[in-house]
Amino acid sequence: MRFAQVCARFQRADRAAALCSASVLRLVVRWFGAAACALAFLAAVPAAPAEDEAARYNRELGRGVNLGNALDAPTGATWAVRLKSEYFRTIRQAGFDSVRIPVSWSLHAAAQPPYRIEPGFFANVDWAINQALSQGLAVVLDVHHDVDMERQPDQGFPRLVAIWEQLAQHYRDYPDKLSFELLNEPSGALTDEKWQGVMSALLRTVRAKDPKRIVVVGPAFWNSLDHLDKLVLPPDDRRIVVTFHYYVPLKFTHQAAGWVPGSDKWKGTTWTGAPEEQAVIDRDFDKAAAWAARNARPLYLGEFGAFEAADMDSRANWTRAVAEAAEKRGFSFAYWEFCSGFGAYDPVAQKWRAPLLQALMEGKRKDQTKR
Ligand code: BGC
Repeated sequence: MRFAQVCARFQRADRAAALCSASVLRLVVRWFGAAACALAFLAAVPAAPAEDEAARYNRELGRGVNLGNALDAPTGATWAVRLKSEYFRTIRQAGFDSVRIPVSWSLHAAAQPPYRIEPGFFANVDWAINQALSQGLAVVLDVHHDVDMERQPDQGFPRLVAIWEQLAQHYRDYPDKLSFELLNEPSGALTDEKWQGVMSALLRTVRAKDPKRIVVVGPAFWNSLDHLDKLVLPPDDRRIVVTFHYYVPLKFTHQAAGWVPGSDKWKGTTWTGAPEEQAVIDRDFDKAAAWAARNARPLYLGEFGAFEAADMDSRANWTRAVAEAAEKRGFSFAYWEFCSGFGAYDPVAQKWRAPLLQALMEGKRKDQTKR
């Protein structure tokens, strides 16, 4: 029986009771009527949809960090990070739940069909994934820096498809704590429209080999939240986590960053957490959260961080504000990055940069004091 019908029925009974003016009877009828209305109301409210696999996995991602500038760096680059076994333990012990592992597969796949990935490189990536899994960390395996896709996507596309065929095949029996991120920061010639077609094809490629794997995918324009609306996902695929990256304001986060032309001029930009600064983050994250609610997709803030040229107080203020804004809205996150130019960890001193780690773990600390 519908809620309205139950209420109408008891209202009619109540009127009958009034006519015979038996006040005790009226009270009893009223009480039963109210209780029945409440029960019917509960029955009429649609049950919350069961949490899908992607939402469950996103909670597993929780608080994470990017192992950046390691497997995404060209062989021999002076700035390349060499991953060490103890890093994974250090990350877990600090309280993180996950790592994102960016990998430049295109630097290690043949230039001609079938675009074979070097077995030795595969073994290096396997090692990193297994290290993370053995520490109980969830892993987002990401295709990073595919320059061909940014410049000439039509030429780069067959190779990227072949890379995903090999990855999906190679990792199909890995635990479900491993997820696949189709492409980091689609940009350049990969416009929204172009990316939509490429992304759908890559997703089909993965699904053909590994239908149950969680797949992470973000919008074009460097995974900007302002482009979420352009991303069209297959409604029945409930194993998709959507990602976005956040480096706002760029003048602060990328001051004096060698790869951003003109950023030297930004040196000295601070971030104090003034109400107008905080309001920008809240406005942006509310927009992302509204998209997630409308589309019933979980969100993963896959990169955010402030470069080492900024002062440490500002970096910690901003990092805390962004991490909190994400957690408040149910987004998981991964800080960019572990031990290089944005590093939360100092590999020379072999210790965490305390203000940054505290900023990233503030939510966890609060959760623990609540208990
Ligand atoms: C890039 C890095 C860069 C970082 C912040 C990442 O996606 O791969 O090279 O340092 O974004 O700009």
